[in-house]
Amino acid sequence: MKDLTPKTSDLDPIEIASIDEIRSLQLDRLKWSVRHAYDNVPMYRERFDAAGVHPDDLKQLSDLARFPFTYKTDLRDNYPFGLFAVPRERIVRIHASSGTTGKPTVVGYTQGDIDVWADMVARSMRASGTRPGDIVHVAYGYGLFTGGLGAHYGSERLGCSTVPVSGGMTERQVTLIEDFKPSTIMVTPSYMLNILEQFHKHGLDPRESSLEVGIFGAEPWTNAMRAEVEAAFDMHAVDIYGLSEIMGPGVANECVETKDGLHIWEDHFFPEIIDPQTGEPVEDGEMGELVFTTLTKEGLPMIRYRTRDLTRLLPGSARSMRRMEKITGRSDDMIILRGVNVFPTQIEEQVLATGGLTNHFQIELYRAGRMDALRVHVEAAEGSADEASKTAAARMLHKHIKDVVGISTEIDVRDPGEIERSQGKAKRVIDNRERG
Ligand code: DLL
Repeated sequence: MKDLTPKTSDLDPIEIASIDEIRSLQLDRLKWSVRHAYDNVPMYRERFDAAGVHPDDLKQLSDLARFPFTYKTDLRDNYPFGLFAVPRERIVRIHASSGTTGKPTVVGYTQGDIDVWADMVARSMRASGTRPGDIVHVAYGYGLFTGGLGAHYGSERLGCSTVPVSGGMTERQVTLIEDFKPSTIMVTPSYMLNILEQFHKHGLDPRESSLEVGIFGAEPWTNAMRAEVEAAFDMHAVDIYGLSEIMGPGVANECVETKDGLHIWEDHFFPEIIDPQTGEPVEDGEMGELVFTTLTKEGLPMIRYRTRDLTRLLPGSARSMRRMEKITGRSDDMIILRGVNVFPTQIEEQVLATGGLTNHFQIELYRAGRMDALRVHVEAAEGSADEASKTAAARMLHKHIKDVVGISTEIDVRDPGEIERSQGKAKRVIDNRERG
């Protein structure tokens, strides 16, 4: 793989500023943001008043911990535009999450917000090794989801030839990669596996493709998956994180030269890690739930937004700003099986560590008598689909999961192609417990 480390002279000065400089900028911006929320959003005013805190109480960064949290339900309760902090006419873009139940969560951006977003995605792409003038294939979905348009504006901002392919029509994805020869692909990691499969189906060697960088996010993925995709395409696989409530993609990104967790773009987003049970902040380095406060958002300021994502904060490395470790999972996705906490990413690691299987899998939860039980549906690799190989792979995966994760599972090895393919965010867990 090529060395794609960006030149220091190409970075934004704040990316490599001193910690003091970053903290001082954050404090100024935090004071503005908390005041902006209080003055312009009735919910924040009521919440702060009820909690007995006022924007004037914010004298240092640690004072933020005195302010109340904001939850996803607050966006739903104020559907659609109740949390906007500017007159609706100043909102130039609206996105929304589909939401499996109830109303979607709606987010709005001023022109200034769209500019910051484009800058942060451009910064993320540069950190990933993409250079101005590169061709960029965007296969995140375009539409109400923030992935496609977020990536698109950032790619244009960096000065790249941007190809808005969106998700789906996997064969065409391969044709366009072969014909346009992009250096960079931006897509969910699970959909990348789908694209990989199409390369093989067409008898093409993915290592011969033009791709040098994959910027993968919108769902959890493991370092084991990174190794697999990097080897398959002979490309760098870099992690991008974000959420619509805070902005969209580009809140944090890995650096191609280190790939040691995601640098949070702390000049615009202030991170905290809290104990999800007590809500108390924990020290940097300790695991907990990630909470973000926006520092510059005009349209939809978010004060102490509970992301439900589990990670820990680490000191800067390739940049001065703090890193977050690759996300283990969302607290909502945590499975508690007979007292053991399990995340789909832990199953992913073991599937990838077992020979004779593909990387496509799904987890099914069901009831076995009065107990919850877990079944892993995986697929045999081509050439390992005979009954004896399938039985051997199932036994091996069962053992790996038992030894490493500490739970007993049932393993269902299917024939190649039988597990549903991801078109965007993969659905990893199917909960059949209600049905008995
Ligand atoms: O998924 C924004 C995005 C688009 C990020 C494209 C990266 C690339 P939402 O649909 O609001 O926004 O979903 C946000 O997805 O709270 C995490 O649970 C999860 N997520 C996003 N990026 C990562 C990542 C977009 N790199 C939710 N690793 C977040 C793990 C991620 N989980």
